[in-house]
Amino acid sequence: MKKVLITRKLLRSNEERLSKLWDAKLNLNDEIYSQNQLIELSKDCDGILSSIVDKIDEETINKLSDSVKIISNFAVGFGNIDIKTARKKNIIVTNTPDVLTNATAEIAMLLILGAARRASEGIKWVRNKNWKWSADFLIGKQLEDSRLGILGMGRIGRAVALRAKSFGMKIHYHNRSKLNSDLEAGATYHNNIQSLFSVSDILSINCPATSETKNIINKETLEFFPQGAIITNSARGDMINDEAMVQALINKRIYALGLDVYNGEPDIHSGYLNQPNVFILPHLGSATKKTRTAMADLAIDNIEEYFKTGKCTNIVN
Ligand code: GLV
Repeated sequence: MKKVLITRKLLRSNEERLSKLWDAKLNLNDEIYSQNQLIELSKDCDGILSSIVDKIDEETINKLSDSVKIISNFAVGFGNIDIKTARKKNIIVTNTPDVLTNATAEIAMLLILGAARRASEGIKWVRNKNWKWSADFLIGKQLEDSRLGILGMGRIGRAVALRAKSFGMKIHYHNRSKLNSDLEAGATYHNNIQSLFSVSDILSINCPATSETKNIINKETLEFFPQGAIITNSARGDMINDEAMVQALINKRIYALGLDVYNGEPDIHSGYLNQPNVFILPHLGSATKKTRTAMADLAIDNIEEYFKTGKCTNIVN
């Protein structure tokens, strides 16, 4: 019987399925495994079902037992895994695309609304029980008629565009290549980030973390935005240079920031915590029962497909 290490606790229905399929080494206490624990625990395993908190870097992969043939990441993103080293070691890496698109787009909308309508400040006032309604209390920015820039018009970017349109926003985007008009659905393409940022009253970051997108929001590129723009990130923390962003918030160059993801999460740059205009969530993009169940099911399907056929539809390396 195949043996699979599951690095984090999953929802019960997924764990039951895993236990029926294979000798599943579940993590019932939901401990976060160190790299050494991960290597030790997967010694006699054929596969690993990993999560975004497992940093499976070059050194870890090189120390994995030769029995491990697949790392099935329970996420659409796979920046936590050195996929090139895995390839060299003949380990396939898979992800869970599609199933989390809508849940993540909902969180992207929450970030946009929370940042634009000053939700963090509002919540604080109510909790402190010392607020009074007045005509100019917590005036925010209205989404209607504003321009939404989408950085990365993949599945999630397009799902954000669909929702934002119903708020009356005008959609602009930058992507490695222009989409065909069906997928574009009326959005305006910009072939470089300067052009996109300069028309973004609000920016939603929805691109993958790669060496090209790392720190794409930095001291220089922040200058491209209209004065008082809003930036939101529901993709990965890597895209934002935190020092530059904190400075732009202090200078009021940027009106508000909405974040669901962070550099080195669960840590957060301390500069954000002092800023009232930062709306923050703890990486909740895919956190609904429907989506998390579907993601784990797909991560399991990926392993099943590989064990049965030696191939897998969702290979990323
Ligand atoms: C979540 O962040 C994912 O990549 O699935």
